[in-house]
Amino acid sequence: MKNFISKLPKAELHLHIEGSLEPELMFALAQRNRIEIPYNSIEEVKEAYKFSCLQDFLNIYYSGASVLIQEEDFYDLTMAYLTKCNEENILHAEIMFDPQTHTHRGIAFETVINGIQKARNEAQEKWGISSFLIMSFLRHLSEDDAFVTLEQSLPFKHLIKAVGLDSSEKGNPPSKFYKVFEASAKLGYVLLAHAGEEGPAEYVWEAIDGLKIVRIDHGNNCLTDEKLVNQIIQRDIALTVCPLSNLELKVVTDLKLHPLKTMLDKGIKATINSDDPAYFGGYLNQNFISIQETLNLSEADVVLLAKNSFEYSLLEENRKQELMRLVEDYALKN
Ligand code: HPA
Ligand code: ZN
Repeated sequence: MKNFISKLPKAELHLHIEGSLEPELMFALAQRNRIEIPYNSIEEVKEAYKFSCLQDFLNIYYSGASVLIQEEDFYDLTMAYLTKCNEENILHAEIMFDPQTHTHRGIAFETVINGIQKARNEAQEKWGISSFLIMSFLRHLSEDDAFVTLEQSLPFKHLIKAVGLDSSEKGNPPSKFYKVFEASAKLGYVLLAHAGEEGPAEYVWEAIDGLKIVRIDHGNNCLTDEKLVNQIIQRDIALTVCPLSNLELKVVTDLKLHPLKTMLDKGIKATINSDDPAYFGGYLNQNFISIQETLNLSEADVVLLAKNSFEYSLLEENRKQELMRLVEDYALKN
C-alpha cells in the first residue's frame, strides 16, 4: 500500500508555504540574512517542535518565518516544496501564503509574491506541476488590516486564485471578516477559510453562511452538529483534512481517534493534506500512509481521497476530469 500511495497521482489543497520551511533551510537563510534565531542546532529546533495547541505552534511558526527576507528566500522556500511535490506525485498544489506575516516585518508584498511566483513558473515548466495561490488573512489581526492586505494584492490579482483565513481560531470567529470576504468575492477571488479546527461548529456555520466559502480547511468540529454535517453534504462543500497536523496540535489525542473514516462514512467529501509539513513530521504521502495504516483504510478509500483532491480543487472542470481519470487508470493498473 505504501508504494501504491507514493505513486498515486494526487493534489494538495491545504499547505502553508511558510509551514514548509525545513530547519536546514531556516539555518541557511538565517546565516545568509544575518538573522538571529533562538536555536543552536537542528536537534534544538526539533526539540522545540512539541506543541500543546494551535497557538503554541503559531508562535514558533511566525518566529521561523522571520528568516525570510529577500525574493530569493521565498523562491528557495517554494522551490523546496514544489520539488517535494514532484517526488510525491503531487500534480497540482493549492498553496497558501500569509502576506501579513511578512509585511508586518517590513517585507514588501511584491518581494513575497515574486519569489513564490518564480518557483511556481519553474515547477510548471520543468515538471508540469500546476499550482494556485491562496492569500490567507491572519484572523488574530483586525479586519481593517485584512483590507490593507487585500488592497496590496491588487497589482498581483492575476497571480492569486483565492483568499483564505488562518491563524488563531479561538476568539476570532469568521464573522469578524464578513466584509473583507464580500469585497474579495467582488474582486473575483474564490473564498476559503480554516474553520472548526479548534473552534466550535458555530464557526463552521459562520464560514459557510457568512463568509460563503466553497471549501473548509480542517472542519473537524462540524461532526458535533448533525444539521451542519447534512448542510455540508448537501452543499457539496469539501473538507481539507490534515491528519498529522491534527495529531501534533492535539486536535486529536491519538491518530486512532481521527475522524477521517467517520467523515467518509457519513458521505462528507474529505481530502488529505499536510498543512505545515516541516513542523508536523511529514509531507503529503506520509499523511496518506499514516492515516491509511492507523485507520486501516481500504485501497478504495485511498483512491477516493485522491480523486476528491482533484474534484474539489479550484481547477477548471476539464482539467479536473482529466486528472480524476488519471487516478482511476492508475488504480486499475496497480
Ligand atoms: N491553523 C491555523 N492557522 C495556521 C495553520 C493551521 O493549521 N497553519 C498555519 N497557519
Ligand atoms: Zn492550515
